[in-house]
Amino acid sequence: MRRVVYPGSFDPVTNGHLDIISRAARLCDEVVVAVGLNLSKSLLFTVDERVGMLREVTSDFSNVRVASFEGLIVDFCKSNDISAIVKGLRAVSDFDYELQMAQMNYSQAGVETLFMTTNPLYAFLSSSLVKEFAKFGGNVASLVPKHVLDRLAERARGS
Ligand code: PNS
Repeated sequence: MRRVVYPGSFDPVTNGHLDIISRAARLCDEVVVAVGLNLSKSLLFTVDERVGMLREVTSDFSNVRVASFEGLIVDFCKSNDISAIVKGLRAVSDFDYELQMAQMNYSQAGVETLFMTTNPLYAFLSSSLVKEFAKFGGNVASLVPKHVLDRLAERARGS
């Protein structure tokens, strides 16, 4: 069983994330999308909301499962029999940090990292920009799944 993990904040999941998930799901037997719990970022959605949105937008993929994790991603890998982490790379600016994390995870725990190049359609896309655009009334309909668009609209209305 070739099982990989795609970890992130997913605050919220974007079409760029979904593109990586769908491509990884074609290459591997199972993709576990893992939502980080203990991030030092300021987040718009709770972990349950982020997991819920991911479950909704990945429901068509039979080999994708969504979970949350606390602590080190390599410990999550060990306890879930996962041999590799999948990461999307948008630009060179992502590479420096991702390379460092990948080397740390391999040197300390033997967990591989597989980099997938982002679809150029989504090279500029980040959850942070989506949140900022949506917050000030920008149209992000082409950047996130419809379900996420509705949740962003609710949040903008204060619910
Ligand atoms: O979507 P993000 O914010 O880029 O996701 C970052 C995430 C959650 C993938 C990364 O911070 C992570 O793996 N955190 C878990 C803690 C950990 O293992 N840190 C050591 C990395 S070498």
